[in-house]
Amino acid sequence: MYKPPIWVQAMLNVHNIEVAYDQVQVLFDISFEVKPGEIFCLLGRNGAGKTTALKSIMGLLPLKTGSIQFDTQTLSALPPYEVPKQGIAYVPQGRGLFSELTVAQNIEIGLMVKNSSAATRDRVLDMFPRLRERLKQRAETLSGGEQQMLAMARALSMEPKLLLLDEPTEGLQPSMTQLIKDVILNMKQEGVAVILVEHHIETVLSLADRVAFIENGRCPKITDVADLRGNPEQIHRYLGVS
Ligand SMILES: Nc1ncnc2c1ncn2[C@@H]1O[C@H](COP(=O)(O)OP(=O)(O)O)[C@@H](O)[C@H]1O
Ligand SMILES: [Mg+2]
Repeated sequence: MYKPPIWVQAMLNVHNIEVAYDQVQVLFDISFEVKPGEIFCLLGRNGAGKTTALKSIMGLLPLKTGSIQFDTQTLSALPPYEVPKQGIAYVPQGRGLFSELTVAQNIEIGLMVKNSSAATRDRVLDMFPRLRERLKQRAETLSGGEQQMLAMARALSMEPKLLLLDEPTEGLQPSMTQLIKDVILNMKQEGVAVILVEHHIETVLSLADRVAFIENGRCPKITDVADLRGNPEQIHRYLGVS
């Protein structure tokens, strides 16, 4: 398990954020920090506020209170289009691809965010050989697993320091899920931090360093994954599943 040395500073600090859609508040006093190379999972029932938390980090929703720091930047003071340029890539639930564009064009859009080089494109395609074979294919004609790969490839084309993944394995068959897991572990080894929203407990237990439970818009507990493995009843308590 990855244990960041104590001198490694958190790269992302979410401080006491509160977020509402119009008048309806959905996040209450959420705080956590994420360190380089850490896989930080958000676990919670449907509607708990996980996607809202990711959107808030990306600057897509205004904060009522609180702040979000990334390295030395106050992320929450930036307009949304500046956030990816700081080195944060987001793969939304449902993938957010340009469905009528080709594989190559979708990746090109990722490369443009940071003016990444052809070397980055090659490196990303090396991770996803299936995409290299399908560069001219329109995104909407890919299988679900291939679409997820493309969404991740586009995100990685931005050379992120922090990657936000919202349910990347949803609806995928086990072999595809394994591929996605391998890519996440690969990123970790390169020092990329990952915030992962994931429903499959087995996937969480095999990937995560730490887990934050999200319940009704609050974060009642953050725990090391080792602690969770030893005390699985916690999962039952927060998710109502075993
Ligand atoms: N665009 C929206 N407008 C109003 N309410 C929303 C919107 N998106 C989500 N919500 C509400 O915010 C709460 C948290 O949703 P969400 O963050 O999507 O949960 P999760 O990702 O954990 O399933 C839910 O009650 C949901 O109905
Ligand atoms: Mg969600």
